[in-house]
Amino acid sequence: MAEVSALLQKARTAAERAHCPYSRFQVGAVIETELGDFEGCNVENASYGLTICAERVALFHAVAHGAKQFRRLAVSCRSAKENDPPASKMPCGACRQVITELMPAEAVIEIDGVGVWQVGELLPLAFRLP
Ligand code: THU
Repeated sequence: MAEVSALLQKARTAAERAHCPYSRFQVGAVIETELGDFEGCNVENASYGLTICAERVALFHAVAHGAKQFRRLAVSCRSAKENDPPASKMPCGACRQVITELMPAEAVIEIDGVGVWQVGELLPLAFRLP
């Protein structure tokens, strides 16, 4: 088995805390900042559209603590199986928009079971206010 970074290990642990009674799909994320690491998990709701992804919970958690430097993000779709398609392990479009606004384009995102990308590769032509 490939070696798992400490950050990815934290994301896997965070996924265990997911509140996902509807999808049963656990996701965890952790963002490394100048104030330390902040974790997130997906939190679903009976009003399905209110669900929030693990990546945004982790990033907003860090923002709420005053972090300004979003250095590296690890994401683990814990419920995805090894042979499931890579797309089932990647951040959704909404999270990519938030990631793009908060993290520098050169920062690295580590996706469990898939690989490593730079933020700038994940959302071409992202929206930005003029
Ligand atoms: N989910 C995430 O937490 N992150 C993503 O990037 C994709 C999807 C969650 C939302 C929902 O609770 C479950 O996975 C199934 O879509």
